[in-house]
Amino acid sequence: MLRFGEGALIFAEREIREVHVAGGRVRLATRDDAEVLTRMRTELWPEGTAEEHSSELQEILSGEARGNKAMTIFVWEAHEGGLAGFLETRLRSHADGCHEGRPVGYVEGWFVSKGHRRRGIGAELLRAAEDWARRQGCRELASDAEIENEVSQRAHEALGFRPGSRVVTYRKSL
Ligand SMILES: CC(C)(COP(=O)(O)OP(=O)(O)OC[C@H]1O[C@@H](n2cnc3c(N)ncnc32)[C@H](O)[C@@H]1OP(=O)(O)O)[C@@H](O)C(=O)NCCC(=O)NCCS
Repeated sequence: MLRFGEGALIFAEREIREVHVAGGRVRLATRDDAEVLTRMRTELWPEGTAEEHSSELQEILSGEARGNKAMTIFVWEAHEGGLAGFLETRLRSHADGCHEGRPVGYVEGWFVSKGHRRRGIGAELLRAAEDWARRQGCRELASDAEIENEVSQRAHEALGFRPGSRVVTYRKSL
């Protein structure tokens, strides 16, 4: 049973169903995955350095991350070994376009390595996040994509997401 309180996510692995797609399976990330996850995270979010990703992952995977940093991370692992994708999720108290009054599961990061795309791995990672969110009592799963990331938008919509609001953010130096 996963409990959500004081920003801490406490997890019992046996309760998560393992999801298999041809050639591999989705499972929860462990501390042993930190190195490969660092590489994949750095590819997805190059604005952060490998050192920054690595140190965030150490916190997350050791269960020490608190508040917004506390993530549940799923990885896709080939049967012969090697990770080819990950999805990071957490509860948010609310998300644009979702019903208010109950937390929603939120897809914070979703990535499949280039040579492994279009084989259903992204879909299986998402299914694991949906199962996880349902288990938390969520009725909705939310996510976002950069406006220029058409692949991500297509994948979201192919997998059942419907667009919420589209916003433009602004900044001004002070
Ligand atoms: C988005 C991403 C995770 C999808 O992973 P994936 O393993 O390729 O996804 P799937 O194979 O499960 O695709 C599911 C469906 O999404 C749609 N889709 C995925 N990639 C697509 C593409 N390049 N063009 C059009 N539709 C696409 C298809 O409908 C696909 O089903 P199909 O192959 O049966 O037609 C992957 O493309 C990726 O890592 N992209 C770079 C990082 C990124 O943008 N992440 C999202 C950040 S918000």
